[in-house]
Amino acid sequence: MQIVTEPRQMQIIAEKLRLNRQLVGVVMTMGALHEGHLSLVKLAQESAGTVILTIFVNPRQFGVNEDLHRYPRPFEQDVALARSAGVDYLFAPEPETIYPENYQTTVQCGLLAERFEGAQRPGHFNGVATVVTKLFHITKPHVAIFGEKDAQQLAIIKKVVNDLNLDINIVGAPIVRENNGVAVSSRNIYLTSQEHLDASVLYRGILHAEKRIAEGQRDLFNIAEEIRAMISSTPGFRADYVEFVDEESFEPRKTAEAGREYRLLLAAWAGTVRLIDNGRIQV
Ligand code: PAJ
Repeated sequence: MQIVTEPRQMQIIAEKLRLNRQLVGVVMTMGALHEGHLSLVKLAQESAGTVILTIFVNPRQFGVNEDLHRYPRPFEQDVALARSAGVDYLFAPEPETIYPENYQTTVQCGLLAERFEGAQRPGHFNGVATVVTKLFHITKPHVAIFGEKDAQQLAIIKKVVNDLNLDINIVGAPIVRENNGVAVSSRNIYLTSQEHLDASVLYRGILHAEKRIAEGQRDLFNIAEEIRAMISSTPGFRADYVEFVDEESFEPRKTAEAGREYRLLLAAWAGTVRLIDNGRIQV
């Protein structure tokens, strides 16, 4: 595995790979690698001959009161994990090379970026879209894998790629969960052991929705209310949003129609830690 830190060097390597007719797959992360990230690497290996993994804690997607400075950065451990996963190139730039002094250009997302996570975190998705677009131009992939864990992020990236005519195949990867259903996340380390156990309430909410739909309930607002109550009755937990959206448009929906697919989006606070989860709901 080759470690690359300079954008220009990464571009030269990526261009050579393309000239040698290699299919290039990219997995973008902020490091602190876990099973979720490694499942993306595996998917990338199944769809491309060469895999580039990027590790960059992107300052532009953190709000002023967020955890940029305390975000975990176990670089040596990440290098070892990436190597044993069979990553071909690890691109890990310094913030100054991605955002040099007097950097000005940003990718501005539309309405979708203002709802849900965007409402709580103004500017977050513009920061994501900007760095992802830059990393696309640096790593020149044919295919890029993003996790369904961040379903709104995945939808926004697909929109950017489509709107800007980027010639990249975006693939969504299933959510990797712990045994009790908690979605694996770098931020789970901030939870107390009790909060970590109780965090399964989000997954139980998704299972509850599946059950209610199977029973014939079609009032999505009502199901969401029930899930909000499940979250609020968990000590130390507070529901932020629980909403069903159309799987294609990501538009909120109050009533389920037979034959359609929805996504249940959930966000909750466990003390000071924000948790998100989601599940596809087939009617
Ligand atoms: P990060 O939170 O490190 O996540 C990197 C990728 O791993 C994302 O596509 C995310 O959806 C996926 N992922 C995280 N946990 C997962 C899980 N439990 N199961 C499946 N996939 C999971 O998302 C980001 O970084 C950043 O916003 C980034 C796209 C790198 C831009 O800075």
